[in-house]
Amino acid sequence: MHTLSTQVAGYIEHSSWIRRMFEAGMVLKKKYGQENVYDFSLGNPDLAPPAIVGQALHQIADTATNAFAFGYMPNAGYLDTRKVLAAYLAKEQETPALGPEHLVLTCGAAGGLNGLFRAVLDPGDEVVCPAPYFVEYGFYVENHGGKLCPVPSHPGSYELDLAGIAAALTAKTRVVLINSPNNPTGQVYSGQELEQLGQLLERHSKKTGRPVYLVSDEPYRFLVYDGVQVPPVLPLYAHSVVIGSFSKSLSLAGERVGYVAVNPAMPDCATLLGGLVLTNRILGFVNAPAIGQRLLGAALGHGVDLSVYERRRAAMAAVLDAAEISYVMPKGAFYFFPQVPGTSTDDTAFVKALMDQQVLAVPGSGFGCPGGFRLALCVPEDVILRSGDAFKRAVSAFLA
Ligand SMILES: Cc1ncc(COP(=O)(O)O)c(C=O)c1O
Repeated sequence: MHTLSTQVAGYIEHSSWIRRMFEAGMVLKKKYGQENVYDFSLGNPDLAPPAIVGQALHQIADTATNAFAFGYMPNAGYLDTRKVLAAYLAKEQETPALGPEHLVLTCGAAGGLNGLFRAVLDPGDEVVCPAPYFVEYGFYVENHGGKLCPVPSHPGSYELDLAGIAAALTAKTRVVLINSPNNPTGQVYSGQELEQLGQLLERHSKKTGRPVYLVSDEPYRFLVYDGVQVPPVLPLYAHSVVIGSFSKSLSLAGERVGYVAVNPAMPDCATLLGGLVLTNRILGFVNAPAIGQRLLGAALGHGVDLSVYERRRAAMAAVLDAAEISYVMPKGAFYFFPQVPGTSTDDTAFVKALMDQQVLAVPGSGFGCPGGFRLALCVPEDVILRSGDAFKRAVSAFLA
């Protein structure tokens, strides 16, 4: 009794379905064999890192006898790594003024988001975010006394509902948090949507006298299909911040390397950066891991084999088509967010029907969007193809 804080005990209570699903998945794998369970529940990249990561790791090992080889460093991260990353992001974000002084290296995008919220949120401040959204956002915002205010995206396309976002802005709105390519929908917001969003935030910030930050969480920027471009946000709005990571692009999720890039055009950007350096320290991250940073310095510009994800996306689309499950084709990232079949919106019941056929998925309610469910493409293509009949059986049983 009273082992945990009320808040954390409540979190565990409310997320017990995740644990139950995980446990049920383990039972299924034991009963039917790993290869006969179609596990689309986890967004855990299963591709090996590019070869250069292994080579860089050997070179890092050769420096292990140097003093401070893995010692403390500036809280913002190694200057060398920040220089390489700044040059890369200056091009990607079409922001030539972006330099190493505008970057803080973080423990993944997760560490970057937490550092940013800690730096800018006052108690009760609001973070507006399109739904569906990455499950952890609510926790990250509440970690720092804020409140997540989800705004449903346009059903059927998952484009931004700009009127909905405008209606959600209040004097307490401090951040608008977007994620493109999106987890879980795969949506990539267009330049026009982002430009209009920037204009909206400009007007709102003027009205309230306090800037609203536009935070763009972009760990899937590298993974887009059919030649889609992910527009840069920095040129569109002065109070913008980009957060990214190499968890997915270099399959380095366990190494915890990400970054926060602050728009050089932001008045007072040095103050925000000072805040971010401090929060990286006082949240206990201190700095992003030394080895991860050096791996990043060596491997930036390389990536996992994207054609694998392209084939998996095509395979999953074929499986869903054959099962008559409707979905919006993802433009990027490695997820599908299809609709529960028929007239029901009971995503938990349909996920249960899938599980009865050894298919593991995550209910949309967990992403703030009941009525849908998420499938992650972090399994080999043959698993996706072999799951076709199981999907069909689940739909028949659910609609019966
Ligand atoms: C949208 C989104 N943001 C942030 C993260 C956190 O990633 P990282 O490993 O870089 O902390 C994830 C991980 O799945 C994600 O999907």
